[in-house]
Amino acid sequence: MRIVIKIGGSLLQDDGKINVDRISRYAEIIRKLREEGHNLVIVAGGGNIARKYIEAMRKLNAPDAICDLVGIKVAKLNAYLLISAIKENVYPKVPDTIEEAISIFSMGKIVVMGGLQPGQSTNAVAALLAESIRADIFINATTVDGVYTAPPGTPGAKKLEQVTTEQLMKIMRETSKFKAGEYRLFDPLAILIVQRAKLLVKIVDGRDPHNILRALRGEKVGTTILP
Ligand code: UTP
Repeated sequence: MRIVIKIGGSLLQDDGKINVDRISRYAEIIRKLREEGHNLVIVAGGGNIARKYIEAMRKLNAPDAICDLVGIKVAKLNAYLLISAIKENVYPKVPDTIEEAISIFSMGKIVVMGGLQPGQSTNAVAALLAESIRADIFINATTVDGVYTAPPGTPGAKKLEQVTTEQLMKIMRETSKFKAGEYRLFDPLAILIVQRAKLLVKIVDGRDPHNILRALRGEKVGTTILP
């Protein structure tokens, strides 16, 4: 299969520290999938470290697009952490463009990508890559166990097993902001790409990296987005 896995930056860091143990567990699973013959694109998010930089940049009155650029760079740093952990069959450089990522992918190497351009999140990067390589599945590993009708923890918020792109757009419009560091689960571009490319997307709780394997085996885990 052609698989895109987006790993939320918050999964690579805990309490301001880089979680080397979880990064190693992700690398192990990625190597295993490659050994089984799957072709892989991995996208790392920026997480809390990106948000700390963005918060400081805001206090310094930096425009959102510049804050986004900083987030992109932090996501790339996180991508290098994953490259170091994966070691085998992985391309040593984080691509700067979709074109570069696709040509590396076509050479049979695991591609690990960070951010791309301002005005979007790394989920849009993952969706664009999934569209480009005609991915069979795009797995989004994050710090929640799926999509909720309202932010998890809000009274009455219910977890959805399936969600259409239209429903997701509505939920995201109500709960996320179109601002650097705050695009949250899925930004508008990511949803539109999923819709037009008819991608199969699964959102899983990445605090346990094994949920990726469960999602690939078709087990009931997280939320499935229906294009
Ligand atoms: P993300 O918000 O995608 O990180 O990127 P993330 O780790 O997935 O977030 P969590 O922790 O799972 O919630 C970090 C920031 O980098 C900028 C945005 O400002 C984004 O909020 N970014 C990232 C871009 O501007 N363009 C990109 O292509 C990617």
